[in-house]
Amino acid sequence: MLEPETSLETRTMQADAGAIADAARVLAAGGLVAFPTETVYGLGADACNGQAVARLYAAKGRPSFNPLIVHVTDMSAAQRLARFDADAARLAAAFWPGPLTLVLPKTHDCPVAQLATAGLDTIAVRVPDHPVARALIAAAGRPLVAPSGNRSGHVSPTSATHVAADLGGSVDLIIDGGPTRVGVESTIVACLGDRPVLLRPGGVAREAIEQLLSRSIEGPVRGRTEGPLAPGMLTSHYAPATRLRLDADTVAPDEALLAFGPNLPRGAAGAVAVLNLSPAGDLVEAASNLFAHLRALDQAGARAIAAMPVPREGLGEAINDRLARAASPGG
Ligand code: TXA
Ligand code: MG
Repeated sequence: MLEPETSLETRTMQADAGAIADAARVLAAGGLVAFPTETVYGLGADACNGQAVARLYAAKGRPSFNPLIVHVTDMSAAQRLARFDADAARLAAAFWPGPLTLVLPKTHDCPVAQLATAGLDTIAVRVPDHPVARALIAAAGRPLVAPSGNRSGHVSPTSATHVAADLGGSVDLIIDGGPTRVGVESTIVACLGDRPVLLRPGGVAREAIEQLLSRSIEGPVRGRTEGPLAPGMLTSHYAPATRLRLDADTVAPDEALLAFGPNLPRGAAGAVAVLNLSPAGDLVEAASNLFAHLRALDQAGARAIAAMPVPREGLGEAINDRLARAASPGG
């Protein structure tokens, strides 16, 4: 297991106008800010900045590239990111702002970084009901990704002290807005097919959702309350249509190359297409490019995508995990 980076000097500030303005500057510069929502404290980053999102995964301690929830201030901001069917629109109207997250199809021009949605065509969106969270998103002027502000494997934090204990030294700023009101994470509902599916129970009760929609809703699958999975409805991870060949040390003329680092393998000059995750060999940059490059190479008309080996330290662990999954669709 990876130890998180603890080289930053983490500041904690009481939630006032000065703290919000500072936090907005940190976020605009690609930094990480922990902040309160009504459910739990979140660890926030600019959702549209792939490198900031990559740093956020690294700060959590065991990077995994699970898709993240994108936080916005209102329905019109949400509609720029996601497509709402009738059920989704009713759920949003009834429970936003509040502890409900909707998993929806992405819009075609969705500006959120591919890494934030783990390369999926769907996106999780929520409008939090907390004055500090709302002021921060507004001041940042952009959607914020925010997983719970704990280290991987720990429980979600409901106070600034919890966040500092887990993530001190790994984030730039913690905004202290007191203990959170709801104390459990948001309820996650996917509206992707004919019927909404409950993916994670949380701050909005299932009964309240069923009453609003006048019918029962499926899910969650037992033992799978975390993670993007609902049988037959959701793809659990991104996989290209083109076959992916891992640990490539040569590339054939009918293959596309997913490169990493400065030294390209034999055959690279004759490949159908070449995209480099990070010519300098930087794993944060590589993470931020992973899904966008896979998608682009999938469109290149190659017989296969040859992926160079990526070191397993730091974010490399998650990059290798996602490459392995992308190489064995359904696996
Ligand atoms: O209350 C909350 O939701 C808190 C606060 C900070 O907003 N956030 C939170 O985020 O709990 P996190 O990252 O700990 O949990 C996000 C969950 C994960 O289980 C993830 O798999 C799921 O949302 N998720 C995100 N995008 C998804 C997608 N496109 N499809 C399916 N599940 C998705
Ligand atoms: Mg969490």
